[in-house]
Amino acid sequence: MTSRSLPVLDIVPPDVAPSGPRAPLDPEDARLAEFRPDAPALPRFFVWTLGCQMNRSDSEEMAGRLLAAGCAEAPSMESADLVVINTCAIREAAEAKVIGRQGHLRRLKDANPGLRVVLTGCSVRESNRGGLAKRYPAVDLFLRPDEEPELVDRLGLASAQGAVGAMTGTAAPATTAATTLVKGDLVSDATHLVRARSDAITGGAVSRSSAISAWLPIIYGCDKTCTYCIVPFSRGPERSRPFDEVVAEARALAEAGYREVTLLGQNVNSYGHDLPAEERFAHVHTERTVGRRQDRGARPDLAELIRAIDGIRGHDGTHAIPRLRFVTSHPWDLSDRLVDAMRDCPSVCEALHLPVQSGSDAMLRRMGRQYTVAHYAERLDRIRQAVPGIALSTDVIVGFCGETDAEYEATLGLLRAVRFDQVFAAAYSERPGTPAAHLADDVPAAEKHRRLVELLAVQEAIGLERNREWLGRTTEVLLDAVVPPRAHHHDEADDDEAAGTAGARDAFRDLPEGIAHLVGRSRENKLVHTAGEPALVGALVGVAIDHAGPYALRGRLA
Ligand code: SAH
Ligand code: SF4
Ligand code: F3S
Repeated sequence: MTSRSLPVLDIVPPDVAPSGPRAPLDPEDARLAEFRPDAPALPRFFVWTLGCQMNRSDSEEMAGRLLAAGCAEAPSMESADLVVINTCAIREAAEAKVIGRQGHLRRLKDANPGLRVVLTGCSVRESNRGGLAKRYPAVDLFLRPDEEPELVDRLGLASAQGAVGAMTGTAAPATTAATTLVKGDLVSDATHLVRARSDAITGGAVSRSSAISAWLPIIYGCDKTCTYCIVPFSRGPERSRPFDEVVAEARALAEAGYREVTLLGQNVNSYGHDLPAEERFAHVHTERTVGRRQDRGARPDLAELIRAIDGIRGHDGTHAIPRLRFVTSHPWDLSDRLVDAMRDCPSVCEALHLPVQSGSDAMLRRMGRQYTVAHYAERLDRIRQAVPGIALSTDVIVGFCGETDAEYEATLGLLRAVRFDQVFAAAYSERPGTPAAHLADDVPAAEKHRRLVELLAVQEAIGLERNREWLGRTTEVLLDAVVPPRAHHHDEADDDEAAGTAGARDAFRDLPEGIAHLVGRSRENKLVHTAGEPALVGALVGVAIDHAGPYALRGRLA
């Protein structure tokens, strides 16, 4: 609230006023400014998103709700009155990034006492609520991932508009989130997220960050019990979105011109097991090759969903969404039905991200991954047979509890045998509250680091060899951005090095007038740099590859 002195109208006293009736003041007259009602003081917001695609998608929903409430987006944290930090807790480093910004936020608050800071995402759990204020002293409000749909209400912004309440058809409930017990721990329950998503879609309250590629969440939470992982405690048990709703959202994305849709979930492969059985899915029987039994008869599964979305056609009969992807898949329930759907559906991209974590059965057991290296290899064989040329990527953890040299070497051996296109590797980071926190985190930090650096070097050579296979070939690229001539921030410069952007910048330094450095992805999810008119962003083009680095390709428009 700003304080102000009593308004004084600058009107000439009667004795000096010219005689005769005074003309009424123009409503726009500056002297009336004090009497006009204040425009509602809605904050300008900035969302800082860390972590995985699920967080990005959640941030699109939060931004959409804030926009629907009448707030405007600020271009930076420094110019915002409301900062929403959507956190990731997967490793300590991700949390340290946010903790390290508390001083900066504190200073911003001193300069702008109206500034409010909200912390959402996986760092907020019921079990650690007590300690949050101390860890994040600049934060005013903490929301668990399942509480994120309440953001607008909890900030008292809902009354300033009508759209958010109106879009549900009923008044938006102030509190929708709930908790549930998982192995004696109180964790969030994503049940209502399914409805909140549906409301956000109906109300148009999703502010998508791209007009070309869209995230489409299909399942929330995770039922797996990987011993190192915080996600089941942050996100709670699995909850699938209704089949028809997902297909309807995909259809709406197609109508809006999206060229690529990525189905999202911590484990998209278990989509549908928690939905009610239905006659129309009577033919669905998803067999389990390993692990515990799960009754999935007559329920929709990911294969069914992919076939339905692949079946959406445009007016000309072609695939309305030319590119369909899904992340993340757990090897344990990657079914033959899914492999067959990938083979049969032309829109499904020839790329699969299948995290393996380790190449040692003993490690996989300690990690609670529920499959063996042999099972993983069998699944890859089957996929490679069904979809020849498919690009494979994976996640690996080095230095997990008790990892011996031999166990680590087994992971290197697996990478050399499979020859993944891309590997996301990380050193194990103990997460409080996870089952592995009871095991000794006994690989010394320096050894974890040594293994990580070595493994990344091994993979870099493999990635380069794989990418060289593209030299002289033409590949379809969905162009999604113009690359600016120079990176603006250090972070960007670092990312650039990794993405091979710096080299491409040099190659495309002296482009003719009207031609820009463009970047996009191939169907195999390879980053591809090229040069062309900026208007091509959003188009599917052929690029003849003439340069290959370990992390990106480069070529001319074909
Ligand atoms: N649901 C996805 C993974 C989500 S987390 C899946 O199961 O594949 C992404 C990756 O982070 C994981 O695959 C794992 O490699 C890594 N990760 C998870 N917990 C970790 C931890 N405590 N320390 C280091 N890496 C971790
Ligand atoms: Fe974590 Fe495992 Fe679930 Fe992936 S499948 S989110 S690694 S518990
Ligand atoms: Fe991080 Fe949560 Fe995703 S912990 S990786 S943001 S699910």
